[in-house]
Amino acid sequence: MSPIDTCRNRELFPESLNAGWEPGGAPTPATRTRVAAMSGLKPASWSYAEEFVPEPEVVEAARRRGVELGAASPVGTGAGAVLRLLAATVGARHVLEVGTGAGTSGLWLLAGMPEDGVLTTIDVSAEHQRLARQAYAEAGYPHQRTRVITGAAAEVLPRMADGGYDMVHVDADKDTYPTYVEHAVRLLRSGGVLVVDNMLWHDRVADPAARDDTTSTLRDLGKMLRDHDDLVTALLPVSDGVLVAVRR
Ligand SMILES: C[S@@+](CC[C@H](N)C(=O)[O-])C[C@H]1O[C@@H](n2cnc3c(N)ncnc32)[C@H](O)[C@@H]1O
Repeated sequence: MSPIDTCRNRELFPESLNAGWEPGGAPTPATRTRVAAMSGLKPASWSYAEEFVPEPEVVEAARRRGVELGAASPVGTGAGAVLRLLAATVGARHVLEVGTGAGTSGLWLLAGMPEDGVLTTIDVSAEHQRLARQAYAEAGYPHQRTRVITGAAAEVLPRMADGGYDMVHVDADKDTYPTYVEHAVRLLRSGGVLVVDNMLWHDRVADPAARDDTTSTLRDLGKMLRDHDDLVTALLPVSDGVLVAVRR
């Protein structure tokens, strides 16, 4: 199996079908019946949907480099398609990303943004960002389209101005997600979109028995965002779980 296949398989998780429907709780009888009725075809449908939007060659090359790095696991193809869709939907000229990696998610974002849009992306690793710059250049984006900031995101984000972004994508170290998300909400304009990756966390979030720190952090964060007065939120079961929220 190639590294790309390994990565994709890790992000599909069809075996979560019978896990709790509500994060941290048991599925309702109605949900159980509905899922049981669908379960024969559901994994095939998920795979089909995950690969429905083909991954461009430049993105595939960036993904391969990200997988090879080990510490820069790229967004899944389904998540990438959602990023592109949302960037196009809100006409995102100013996009902020926390977790550059080797540039896979950045390429999807840039593909949905208008031609004068600028992607600001933060990562603690200069090596990852060197590969991301390579990916952006290979895809033909002029360097003015990207602002690549090297540093710990928790130190960089407080220096950024409120309401300055149309879209924020969070995909860095999971245990610091609550801090990143708190800043993201502050940084979004009204009508701006927050996208948080890995919010099903290897199927562990939906499993009430999974109580490790990272899973609990992500489960609690999802519920906090779902109940946030200033956000309209949905959790999409694509890739490793993509939480999307629009700021009112
Ligand atoms: C899951 S990878 C990002 C993948 C990228 N979004 C993509 O799709 O190619 C997580 C990234 O977060 C970065 N990271 C880890 N801790 C960080 C921190 N404290 N501040 C900023 N970036 C961090 C890692 O260096 C890594 O590149």
